[in-house]
Amino acid sequence: MDDAKEEIRARLPVEDVVGQYIELKRAGRNLKGRSPWGVDKTPSFMVSPEKGIWHDFSANKGGDIFSFVMEVEGISFREALEKLAAQAGVELQRYSGGDKAVAERKRRMKEILELSCRYYQFCLTKNAKVCDYVFNKRNLNKSTVKEFRIGYSPNQGKALVQFLTKKGYKMAEMEAAGVLNQYKGDLFRGRMMVPFIDSAGVIGYTARILGKGEPKYLNTPETLLFNKSRFVFGLVQAKEAIRQNGFVVIVEGNMDVISSHQAGVKEAVATSGTAMTESHLKMLSRLTDDVRLAYDGDAAGVKATERAIMLAGDLGISLSVISDYHGAKDPDELIQKDPKLWQEAVKNYCPAVDWLLDKYEENLDLNSGPGKREYADLAMKLLKNVTHKVEKKHYEQLVARKLDCSVSDLVENKVAENASKRLKKANLEAASDIIDKLQCNLQAIAVYGGITEVKGVEIPDDEVRLGELEMIFEKEYGTWNKPALEKEAKALLARRKAEESKVEAERLAQEWEKASEEGNETLQADIERKIMALRRVK
Ligand code: UTP
Ligand code: MN
Repeated sequence: MDDAKEEIRARLPVEDVVGQYIELKRAGRNLKGRSPWGVDKTPSFMVSPEKGIWHDFSANKGGDIFSFVMEVEGISFREALEKLAAQAGVELQRYSGGDKAVAERKRRMKEILELSCRYYQFCLTKNAKVCDYVFNKRNLNKSTVKEFRIGYSPNQGKALVQFLTKKGYKMAEMEAAGVLNQYKGDLFRGRMMVPFIDSAGVIGYTARILGKGEPKYLNTPETLLFNKSRFVFGLVQAKEAIRQNGFVVIVEGNMDVISSHQAGVKEAVATSGTAMTESHLKMLSRLTDDVRLAYDGDAAGVKATERAIMLAGDLGISLSVISDYHGAKDPDELIQKDPKLWQEAVKNYCPAVDWLLDKYEENLDLNSGPGKREYADLAMKLLKNVTHKVEKKHYEQLVARKLDCSVSDLVENKVAENASKRLKKANLEAASDIIDKLQCNLQAIAVYGGITEVKGVEIPDDEVRLGELEMIFEKEYGTWNKPALEKEAKALLARRKAEESKVEAERLAQEWEKASEEGNETLQADIERKIMALRRVK
């Protein structure tokens, strides 16, 4: 791979690669231009053709052609490599000793998805009813339909399979590309087709039913090409606008993205049919640090926003919320009312922390003790994710004012909370010490008291351990008779069981708390089931 990199570097002068994105002027031995990240007042972007490097003095970053394309396009190294290899006419396959078979399978999958996309696009033009849905009901115009490559999947069971078979593709290949159902027929039938497109082309689909029915959207399963926790819908189409205008709008639905672009807000993207992940945000943070969420204001929207704040913490992103939809249910509906309303809405944003604090306040009675307590807990949990000291102080003061207390009250309360956590941990350690002690006594009774019916107690076989047990027995039970020992064994067993479930319950509670902080609801539900089961045993 290093060879391929060198070959590409040799063929593509840095000034040519950079020159595709910004205008460069000669300045002595170097070239000069304006920062593509738009933070300079005078040209502060330098390119050294001799060294093959660039440096941006206003954004304080620099590197070679690969890092430039990664930064400016917001793509991974691999994607930059592929892009530049194509420009340089370098065949990466010749250099990669890697898995040729996988690369070949991916290539065939890409062909299948590209061909099926064209097929679906063609089918749309032939179906008047579907055209009516797309152009009149959804109000999309021709250029939007073309740009997002919207199509229609015929409702004939095997239309696509037959089309692809004629083109020479095997069922197994179609299956790998994610276009088949479990009966080896077309997965997508009678639906409006919206392709997932990334920098390499079509990688999958989301497909909407025309009218009412379940499921409303059917998505491609995860494949070698499509990974939903990494794919950002609309990013290919939005990238340029995001970079130029310095912000991104994350909406909930794919159709919201499409409508938004048509309405002139081309900075819109969505995480298709899944919750936001760190990879999603990381990808976007390479393009801009101004991330605006356009989620619903309902409980799910609050959760999603909290989650985004948690993820954004380390990425140096400033997260805000767009919330004024003039009563519309989503951006698409607002745009149908009037595109201007949406254009204004995206300029009317509020820091996500403020928005969440307002939401917490809406749902609580801040005149009551319990209300104040809950608000303080929620707010402090939220502020844990604010890393900038000054910003944090600002919010702590704001929260303190709301609660009629001092910042030190809030912070001390947190210290107390941490102390209670430490105490819990100490309790856990104490409990496991107790269990160890009970276990020793049980073993001693089993081996040296001749009580064979002590169930669930392993008998050690090494000499040293046996010596220890003998000592324990002598000291604790030396004078006891058999019935007394039997009674003691039963009591010890019962206590051990009780201590063990205490430890287990505490451990589960801690896991639950962690899962809750991470927003992992499936894990939380799983742990809750375990806790219930534990209670039943008792
Ligand atoms: P919505 O139901 O809000 O969809 O789901 P929408 O975008 O407003 O759809 P239209 O306007 O009625 O066509 C939001 C997102 O959740 C995912 C999709 O990604 C959708 O865009 N979703 C929803 C699914 O994946 N499957 C579904 O069945 C429903
Ligand atoms: Mn909608």
